[in-house]
Amino acid sequence: MATPSSPQQALHVACIMDGNGRWARRRGLPRTAGHTAGEEALATVVREASARGIGWLTVFGFSTENWVRPPSEVRHILGLHRKLFGRIDELNANNVRVNWIGRPFDEPGSRTPTTVQKAIRQAIADTRNNTGMVLTVAFDYGSRAEIARAASRAGESGDVNVEAISRQLYDPSLPPVDVLVRTSGETRVSNFLLWQSAGARIYFTECSWPDFGGRELDEAISLARSSVS
Ligand code: IPE
Ligand code: IPE
Ligand code: MG
Repeated sequence: MATPSSPQQALHVACIMDGNGRWARRRGLPRTAGHTAGEEALATVVREASARGIGWLTVFGFSTENWVRPPSEVRHILGLHRKLFGRIDELNANNVRVNWIGRPFDEPGSRTPTTVQKAIRQAIADTRNNTGMVLTVAFDYGSRAEIARAASRAGESGDVNVEAISRQLYDPSLPPVDVLVRTSGETRVSNFLLWQSAGARIYFTECSWPDFGGRELDEAISLARSSVS
C-alpha cells in the first residue's frame, strides 16, 4: 500500500557542529577528546535523523578556514573523518547514502590529503545504492568560494542567473535547507551553505555538539516543520 509522504520525509537539516573544544575544556580534557566525542555524536545523530525519516542531513565537518588550527589538531580531525567515512556497515544498516561537498580535489588550493580523498570516494561508492537519508559531509568547504566558482562557471556557459548558478554548485542536487542548526551558543553562520539556506529557519542552541542528540534534533525538526504551511 502506498503511504502518503509526510513533509518530514523530505526535510533538509544542516548542522554547524560547534563546541567540541569547549566541551573538552569543561571536562579538563584535550581538545582532541572533544573532536572524538563529536564524531561519536555525529554517528548517533545520523542514526536518529534517519530513524525520523529526515531526507537530507548536511554537516559542516571541516571548513576552508580550519586548516590554520594547530597541525596536531588538524591531524586528529582528519583521522576522525577517515573513521566517519569508514562506518560503512552502520551506514548501510541505516540505508544512508554518503555524499560530500567541498573544494574539488583537483583545484588549486585544495588541501585534502589523499587518505581522506580515498575514504570519501570509498564511502560514496559503498553506499551509493542506499535509498534512505543522504548524509552530506562538507569537508574543506567554504560557501563563498562555492558560489564564486559557480557564478564563474555559469558565466562561461551563458547567462549568470539564479538557476544557472544553482546548477554549478558543488552538488546541485542538494535541496534547499529547511533548518540550519548551530550548536554551542554561537550565532554565526560561518560561511556554511549560504546559497542553499536562503529560506532556512535557524536553530541556535547552547548545547555543545558532543551532547547533541535526538531531543535536540526534535527541536530543530519542529522548528523546520512550523514553516511548512
Ligand atoms: C567544532 O568544534 C569542530 C570543528 C570546527 C572542526 P570546535 O573545535 O570549533 O570547538 P570550539 O568552538 O573551540 O569549542
Ligand atoms: C565552523 O566552526 C566550522 C565547522 C563546524 C567545521 P568554527 O568553530 O570553525 O567556526 P567559527 O569560524 O569560529 O565561526
Ligand atoms: Mg568552534
